[in-house]
Amino acid sequence: MTRVEKLELLIDRKNINKRVKEIAAEINDNYKGKFPVFIGILNGAFIFLSDLVRELKLNVEIDFLKLESYGNNKYTSGDIRLLKDLNIPLAGRDVVVVEDIIDSGLSIKYIHELVSRHTPNSLEIAAFLYKKGIDKLEFDIKYLGFKVPNKFLVGYGLDFAQKYRNLKSIYVLKN
Ligand code: IMP
Ligand code: MG
Repeated sequence: MTRVEKLELLIDRKNINKRVKEIAAEINDNYKGKFPVFIGILNGAFIFLSDLVRELKLNVEIDFLKLESYGNNKYTSGDIRLLKDLNIPLAGRDVVVVEDIIDSGLSIKYIHELVSRHTPNSLEIAAFLYKKGIDKLEFDIKYLGFKVPNKFLVGYGLDFAQKYRNLKSIYVLKN
């Protein structure tokens, strides 16, 4: 693999694993006896989702949404298109949307609206990382991993031009 970009470690895998377990413990408490649906936002959330659900002592159902946002590689333009819709009915279900990172908040706002239209019994968000957009949202982000600086990050599902999603830790992309 040729790595052109320079990466600087931000959150190592030990801290990631610890935080995932803490979030899972909260979810285990909050959904006792329930059968929640976890919706992973592709592609970025696939690693966090798979780590998270394997720490749950609950029966869970899993589905995915895939979005495409126009613009350059690094920023969401706000122009969002749905590439893969939901495959299971959500009416009356307890839903947890799992996202890799919230930056401007535009993607999660779009997703929240989309999922709400399916009239779930409850809807919560689990976002592993968040930069800044959370203050502007009209709904809470119930499960949050780490607040991170406003820098471009890769690893643990996050990509730059589709690279680096498979790294076990989270890095700042330099320059
Ligand atoms: P938002 O719509 O601006 O909140 O951006 C959210 C989406 O943009 C995330 O789901 C990521 O896919 C992507 N994104 C935001 N910040 C980063 C980053 O630092 N690295 C990689 N992807 C990011
Ligand atoms: Mg994403």
